[in-house]
Amino acid sequence: MSGYRGPMRVLSGIQPSGGMQLGNYLGAIRKFVELQHQYECYYCVVDMHAITVWQDPEKLREQTFHIAASYLAAGVDPNIATVFHQSAVGAHAELAWIFNCVARLGWIDRMTQFKDKAGKDKERASVGLYTYPVLQAADILVYKATHVPVGEDQKQHLELSRDIAGKFNHDFDADDFFPLPEPLIKGPGARIMSLRDGAAKMSKSDPSENACIFLSDDSDVIARKIKKAKTDSEPLPSEPKGLEGRLEAANLVGIYAALSGKPDADVLKEFGGQGFGAFKPALAELVVEKLAPISAELRRLEADPGYLQQVLRNGAERAAAVADPVVAEVKEIVGFLP
Ligand code: AMP
Ligand code: TRP
Repeated sequence: MSGYRGPMRVLSGIQPSGGMQLGNYLGAIRKFVELQHQYECYYCVVDMHAITVWQDPEKLREQTFHIAASYLAAGVDPNIATVFHQSAVGAHAELAWIFNCVARLGWIDRMTQFKDKAGKDKERASVGLYTYPVLQAADILVYKATHVPVGEDQKQHLELSRDIAGKFNHDFDADDFFPLPEPLIKGPGARIMSLRDGAAKMSKSDPSENACIFLSDDSDVIARKIKKAKTDSEPLPSEPKGLEGRLEAANLVGIYAALSGKPDADVLKEFGGQGFGAFKPALAELVVEKLAPISAELRRLEADPGYLQQVLRNGAERAAAVADPVVAEVKEIVGFLP
């Protein structure tokens, strides 16, 4: 973080582009809950990122509530952390524009998520999808956030945020104006894979409905998805080394480990030598046991949109009170008239 001396702050966001899934929970939200007691935390629902690919407006509103409700259901306390939706705080977009003029084309050209999401026909991707990581840097730096809890897939975007912060500080001779934000990635669950393909990450926008476990799935659906999960025909090994090259088996063991709080080695000590016929029901039981209280709370919160709206409105006000003065200072540094 070089010589930055401002307060330690945490920011992270999740897109309302579908339902909250197990990868989001293990890779991100679970960390949000732990961090809120240690740092000043800002957790947003990044609706402006979601529209970089087409979103039905009515669904977008619903999913924005759903993601906010999932934060709270998992244990984020809106009286401690600031919970809001990105589009309600205009400072994000203002800083993103300035950062578009700081970031270099060559940097953005290297972003692998754009290549994955745009696919072969990148001429038809939105311009927003291309500058998506620049907006992400603005989300983080508009609060001068020092720490960013995310899953492993966001590592490259975080490196870009650091590059943008560093170039801004350098170009404007504004030593340590922005911190160089640190990703918080480590820990079990940083990379949960699809139940249908051990080489693809679990994603809420996966077209196969059996690929992904949603927080809103009931216990029957969870058990069915795990039963149908792709595996090989070997029994589980008794040591982690035996999982090498067995992507699907490694993923299921990883999910069990992340949810139970045990290392892979302990899970394999218990299940080594057993086939998936025995392991899958045990995994399903554990997933249901851990997610059921969260999904019950999620349903309760979603039935009260008035309360959620109030949480988001309060959050946006608190967020803007921090972000607006940062943007005002940036505008002055850049040379805009007041
Ligand atoms: P997204 O759903 O793409 O907005 O992701 C929101 C957060 O969840 C980010 O911090 C991601 O890194 C994290 N995340 C998404 N999918 C996974 C996954 N399959 N495994 C671990 N973390 C994930
Ligand atoms: N790009 C992130 C994802 O898809 C979501 C995101 C947007 C984000 N802005 C952020 C994450 C700021 C951390 C900090 O997962």
